[in-house]
Amino acid sequence: MNFLSTISVLSLLGAANAAGLENPRVLIPHTPLPPAEFSVPITGKVPRRKSKSNALARRGHLGGADYTSIIDGTLGDKEFVTNATIGGQNFSLIVDTGSSDTWVVQRGFQCLSADGTHVPESACGFGSSGFDVNASTTFQPSNLSFLETYGNGWSVAGPVGYDTVTVGGMSVEHQLVPVPNAAYYTGDGVNSGILGLAFPPLTSVFNTTDPANATSETQVFYNPFFFTAVEEKKVKYPENDKFDANLGFLSFGGIAPVPVVEPRVTVTIQGYSTNSTGFITPSDSPDARYFWYTVDVANYEITGTAGLFAGSNNSILDSGAALNNVPPDVAAAFAAAFNPPAVLTNITAGLELYIVDCNATAPEFLVYIGGKTFSIDPQDQIVPVGPDAQGNEVCVSGTQGGTLTNNPNGILLLGDVFFHNVVITFNPIDGEVTITQRAEY
Ligand SMILES: *[C@@H]1O[C@H](CO)[C@@H](O)[C@H](O)[C@H]1NC(C)=O
Ligand SMILES: *[C@@H]1O[C@H](CO)[C@@H](O)[C@H](O)[C@H]1NC(C)=O
Ligand SMILES: *[C@@H]1O[C@H](CO)[C@@H](O)[C@H](O)[C@H]1NC(C)=O
Ligand SMILES: *[C@@H]1O[C@H](CO)[C@@H](O)[C@H](O)[C@H]1NC(C)=O
Ligand SMILES: *[C@@H]1O[C@H](CO)[C@@H](O)[C@H](O)[C@H]1NC(C)=O
Ligand SMILES: *[C@@H]1O[C@H](CO)[C@@H](O)[C@H](O)[C@H]1NC(C)=O
Ligand SMILES: *[C@@H]1O[C@H](CO)[C@@H](O)[C@H](O)[C@H]1NC(C)=O
Ligand SMILES: *[C@@H]1O[C@H](CO)[C@@H](O)[C@H](O)[C@H]1NC(C)=O
Ligand SMILES: *[C@@H]1O[C@H](CO)[C@@H](O)[C@H](O)[C@H]1NC(C)=O
Ligand SMILES: *[C@@H]1O[C@H](CO)[C@@H](O)[C@H](O)[C@H]1NC(C)=O
Repeated sequence: MNFLSTISVLSLLGAANAAGLENPRVLIPHTPLPPAEFSVPITGKVPRRKSKSNALARRGHLGGADYTSIIDGTLGDKEFVTNATIGGQNFSLIVDTGSSDTWVVQRGFQCLSADGTHVPESACGFGSSGFDVNASTTFQPSNLSFLETYGNGWSVAGPVGYDTVTVGGMSVEHQLVPVPNAAYYTGDGVNSGILGLAFPPLTSVFNTTDPANATSETQVFYNPFFFTAVEEKKVKYPENDKFDANLGFLSFGGIAPVPVVEPRVTVTIQGYSTNSTGFITPSDSPDARYFWYTVDVANYEITGTAGLFAGSNNSILDSGAALNNVPPDVAAAFAAAFNPPAVLTNITAGLELYIVDCNATAPEFLVYIGGKTFSIDPQDQIVPVGPDAQGNEVCVSGTQGGTLTNNPNGILLLGDVFFHNVVITFNPIDGEVTITQRAEY
């Protein structure tokens, strides 16, 4: 794992081009990534790792939801992963609330570099040799194909089948599962694919056997894993056939149940409309659809500095992104509040990030949602990304500047830095999320 590929996990925001998009879909990003500047293994400095292993040790003593899948961290807790079984084979998958396809790489896949040349399988860094379709007795092929390019440049493509998917003891049979056989990917040596938990309009499957022929005309939408589970009533329904928010939802933010404190708030997810050229804009209209788990952040506050910063609509709750992306003025003020301050630096051409001394004192960051204030522990705000060429540890601010635009592809988001501090319950049925502050750990 090198510095650049670590950075590439910073925004695994899926399907930036979903649903009808003017951009042609391509397997290989047009702009090859520049060579990595720093290239040495990540060291063992992992914030809050101890609490997490304590929590993992408590597994088996968990109550609460019907199905509880333990979430673990990789890449120094910059990524959430969980175990899943597909067609009887076990894999670790990235838990991504920012994309919708649940896929596992296929055994014998071709690993590609950014410029599309074939490289050894190991360069993709998957955690296994992949899903063996022949070894699954339940796998059924289709004439569909999968093509997905993630916000960080990762790209995967290949066939689509149907098989039994199990996560946290919850099984869905005949779930559509892409099994890509080509990948441009910089994995963590742990995961073999992604568990996509966002909404159906962000799925990336096409009615063509050749993913190179994928177009908005051939795109077909399907129910992602959790949506199929809900439709098949795999999660319990109370008598009135209405969802009980205490039952059955997958909960993220660490281990569920985990000790929580005030505040707690339930807010509606923001909907979007797609105009005829495929441009996605926020919408309050009755025919608006859900794409991401997107909420209205009213304000941000930096403890110890005066006043509140204006918030932003369309902030995506994205467990597949390591860092927060907030309006640029907020990120700049936050950077200035570190001691010593974080400094905006071009990490590589075109990639500006606030770099901070790994031993700096970080400020507390408060996020106002639905009239409640959620706090991010300062120790989550100094994120190690690996040593530089001289062997010195490099750290970035956990809260970076995003792009302000009406289009959520823009992208403002609350990533793993936020998720470490809260328990978020996603309720795609009622179009709501419940956010609860975690007890200090
Ligand atoms: C996932 O499965 C592996 C292998 O069975 C196990 O070692 C690991 O602890 C599991 N991880 C979680 C988070 O349950
Ligand atoms: C896969 O995981 C399940 C559930 O944790 C376990 O029961 C099973 O033994 C595992 N299978 C293999 C082949 O490791
Ligand atoms: C699965 O079977 C097909 C057809 O026999 C073969 O081409 C392919 O290599 C097999 N895949 C694996 C992973 O063994
Ligand atoms: C795929 O298409 C071919 C040719 O039309 C057809 O023979 C085959 O049954 C289809 N396979 C599936 C799984 O639908
Ligand atoms: C795919 O296209 C074929 C032929 O155009 C059509 O018969 C089939 O229903 C389509 N499948 C899906 C899932 O849309
Ligand atoms: C893909 O598109 C090319 C060019 O339009 C066409 O020749 C080919 O038959 C298509 N392949 C499939 C599998 O649809
Ligand atoms: C769709 O929305 C975009 C962004 O607002 C706009 O540029 C484009 O002209 C719109 N297309 C149509 C057909 O209205
Ligand atoms: C977000 O949108 C809602 C409804 O459209 C509006 O009431 C609210 O003021 C907006 N919030 C921000 C921070 O712009
Ligand atoms: C990063 O590079 C761009 C393009 O060369 C430049 O416009 C920008 O000012 C640089 N940013 C910093 C913080 O140096
Ligand atoms: C930061 O602290 C570590 C030990 O906590 C130390 O080894 C390292 O030299 C310090 N770095 C700087 C730049 O002071």
